[in-house]
Amino acid sequence: MQFHCKNCRFPFKPASGMKLLGAICPKCEHPLNLSVADRMFGKYEMLEVLGVGGYGTVFKAQELNNSLLFTLKLLRKADVSRADQVHLLRQIQSSRQMNHASVVAAHDFGQEGDYWYLISDYVEGLPLNEWVKRFNPAPYKSLHLCALIGDALQHIHDQQLIHRDLKPGNIIIDEQQHPHIIDFGLCTSKRDSHLMTIERYRAAREAIKKAKSGRKKFILGTPGYAAPEQLVGESLSAKPASDIYSLGVVLYELLANQKPANRLSRLMNRRNLVSRLNSYHLDPADTKKITQLCLSACSAKASKRPPSALAFATACRSISDPKT
Ligand SMILES: Nc1ncnc2c1ncn2[C@@H]1O[C@H](COP(=O)(O)OP(=O)(O)O)[C@@H](O)[C@H]1O
Ligand SMILES: [Mg+2]
Repeated sequence: MQFHCKNCRFPFKPASGMKLLGAICPKCEHPLNLSVADRMFGKYEMLEVLGVGGYGTVFKAQELNNSLLFTLKLLRKADVSRADQVHLLRQIQSSRQMNHASVVAAHDFGQEGDYWYLISDYVEGLPLNEWVKRFNPAPYKSLHLCALIGDALQHIHDQQLIHRDLKPGNIIIDEQQHPHIIDFGLCTSKRDSHLMTIERYRAAREAIKKAKSGRKKFILGTPGYAAPEQLVGESLSAKPASDIYSLGVVLYELLANQKPANRLSRLMNRRNLVSRLNSYHLDPADTKKITQLCLSACSAKASKRPPSALAFATACRSISDPKT
């Protein structure tokens, strides 16, 4: 999405966090004075840029003459492959199956002008990565939060869906400190043979490209959060346990203030986590339980992870609830 400065005609892409009302031109610093018409997309008035990713631009928006807030994700048609279109469709289909206070549903998608668009509910809050910096939660609070995320994940899995891109940027924490899972752009169902065929083709093509260029392996999801079984060639074996791995990494990061390192030994990851937990002077029995739970959830072997998101949530709660 591009806007033009009316003063110097400079075309620019809005940056993340930019409020469109009262914005100034990044080049001549003249007020942009964007009119309502300039800020309209279909029946939605764009208010603020929430995020600019490789995958498109996300705006906070509202319907004209309606105070309800939405997120509007715009993807340039030229950048949307056949596989991406199927992902968009799946995002809507999976959203319709879900009904949970901590799962953010997409309502609608379609095409208009040069763009594909996707509409979801807006959640007032902060992505988890920013929320952590502001609130610096103690271990029991982090466990409590991950239990709530685990509950939402169980709801997703109960619909036979797998999120496949769970990470702090895809979890919004609202003002009541409740988490909301967003961004079902990679969501899949085990039974979705059409999407699987497209992904298998894409995976094979990417694998050939990467092998030729000698670059690292391609991962479906986000490196660092995606489970090892989401590596290309194995991406089709993503399962509910893959989301539990990602949530385990989220918990590790909340507790240890760093991600578990793949290349470091399990022992090193344990040492980093324990030393950070020790700085909180917890009951040593709790430190042991937390370490065990967290390291099992982000275990490379799916069979060593908690058997379900609910089991993970229950284990988190059994440690945090007596203390909060
Ligand atoms: N429903 C929402 N409520 C509030 N903020 C949101 C919502 N959806 C997205 N955002 C913000 O926009 C960013 C990008 O959105 P996301 O759907 O994750 O797109 P991307 O495909 O670029 O990762 C998020 O990290 C978050 O900050
Ligand atoms: Mg995202």
